[in-house]
Amino acid sequence: MLVIDLGGQYAQLIARRVREARVYSEVVSHRATLAEIRAHDPLALVLSGGPASVYAEGAPRLEAAIFELGVPVLGICYGMQLMALDLGGAVAASGAAEFGKTPLRGASGALFAGLPAEQSVWMSHRDSVTAPPQGATVTASSDGAPIAAFEAPGRGLYGVQFHPEVAHTPHGMAVLKNFLYDLAGASPSWTPAAVIEHQVAQIREQVGSERVLCGLSGGVDSAVAALLVHKAVGEQLTCVFVDHGFLRRDEATQVVETFADHFGVPLVHVQAQERFLAKLAGVSDPEAKRKLIGNEFIRVFEEEAKRLGEIDFLVQGTLYSDVIESGGSAGVAAAIKSHHNVGGLPEDMRMELVEPLRSLFKDEVRRVGEELGLPERMVWRQPFPGPGLAIRIIGEVTEERLATLRDADAILQEEIRRAGLYRDLWQSFAVLPAIRSVGVQGDSRTYGYPVVIRAVTSEDAMTADWARLPYDLVELIASRIVNEIPAVNRVVLDVTSKPPATIEWE
Ligand code: XMP
Repeated sequence: MLVIDLGGQYAQLIARRVREARVYSEVVSHRATLAEIRAHDPLALVLSGGPASVYAEGAPRLEAAIFELGVPVLGICYGMQLMALDLGGAVAASGAAEFGKTPLRGASGALFAGLPAEQSVWMSHRDSVTAPPQGATVTASSDGAPIAAFEAPGRGLYGVQFHPEVAHTPHGMAVLKNFLYDLAGASPSWTPAAVIEHQVAQIREQVGSERVLCGLSGGVDSAVAALLVHKAVGEQLTCVFVDHGFLRRDEATQVVETFADHFGVPLVHVQAQERFLAKLAGVSDPEAKRKLIGNEFIRVFEEEAKRLGEIDFLVQGTLYSDVIESGGSAGVAAAIKSHHNVGGLPEDMRMELVEPLRSLFKDEVRRVGEELGLPERMVWRQPFPGPGLAIRIIGEVTEERLATLRDADAILQEEIRRAGLYRDLWQSFAVLPAIRSVGVQGDSRTYGYPVVIRAVTSEDAMTADWARLPYDLVELIASRIVNEIPAVNRVVLDVTSKPPATIEWE
């Protein structure tokens, strides 16, 4: 199933929904040529929404021949309008613009089979279709869009003005399923087990009997990628886990126990804590810290790789969203990753990349991880920055501060989990600004560190809101931190969203 991206943020969401219906889907740009689209051999096409007016200068258009491919096409919002325009219908700014929840009436036809004639849908449009494509019948309407849906089943053409892919359209998923299963003849076979089977075969074909190297970070992406490769080629895989000393409490142990002990993956555990700490001595500038950690990481990784002898393949946890966001070229995605990731590897390591997650969204990676038996804690781990606790100590990183932050963070994590909030939060963590303030404990004054509680909700880390943690929970965390950690005498809560702040403090 191919989603044609006509701008905005809709295409990825549509592709994810289609995959939730267990049908494999990919996104291509509206600039894709007919030959490129044909090369995907799609079962059906979905034309996404988009922010433009079909009449705006430079608005995305499609080659009309797209409708002659002989596969069913579902046009959504802008995609529907484009269909109307290209196939003998008409679009105008005549009706009222509609944004948000809108009542849909008289829903009928194949797309709405089994669904109520009156239902609520999510709209976001100014222009509307004023005449459907030739031969198509109108199958639903709303106040602002008398032609809110049309179809010409004989020609495999379907259009809806509303957004079936958003959660605010309660029957949206059912509309998509009608299209996928009944009209396009797709079967719900895209399951985690199928993904694993397919990837394992592909990895075997790519690497043959050669050796493969994989860097583990403790995060879910590298973990799932490593397990897939291990399942495919077993002991040909060697994992290298560089412990830079900036991980959370117990995380390093967890990686070793899971991979080496439980799954039996050949694992080199590099204890490089002291090396990294020495490098950071006297450094408090955030970017300088990141650079030093990044460079040192590469050096350590290279040393270990050299020790392992000639290895031609390197596993990388590139996700499908990276691929889409970089316009399909791996180069850009890789550049972004290495900029933001300590896991970035040197360009002169001339190894062929193995990217088993390249076609997966993050939630699919998690489901594959579960299917592979990865422990719940690893599968659902919140995002964690490559430089780790080093950029959560504001100021110079010392052993003492690391220990203090690690203790505070462990208390925070424990209580957030106990409250059942861990999965609802995008990230939750402690920050240690290396300043001191006065306090009083018993009869004596103290001069200790403050700890900041940072918890945010977010979809993609581009924007974030501070999480409204229950006051009782905040109090519990705060009192445990000041009672159990002697170096800390004050706890504060960060109540800033992103923007204007960022999620991390450095
Ligand atoms: P900010 O702080 O920019 O963070 O709002 C957005 C997301 O990126 C993560 N982050 C990093 N990840 N290396 C990483 O691998 C880094 O240097 C880094 N800095 C921020 C952050 O945790 C959040 O999820």
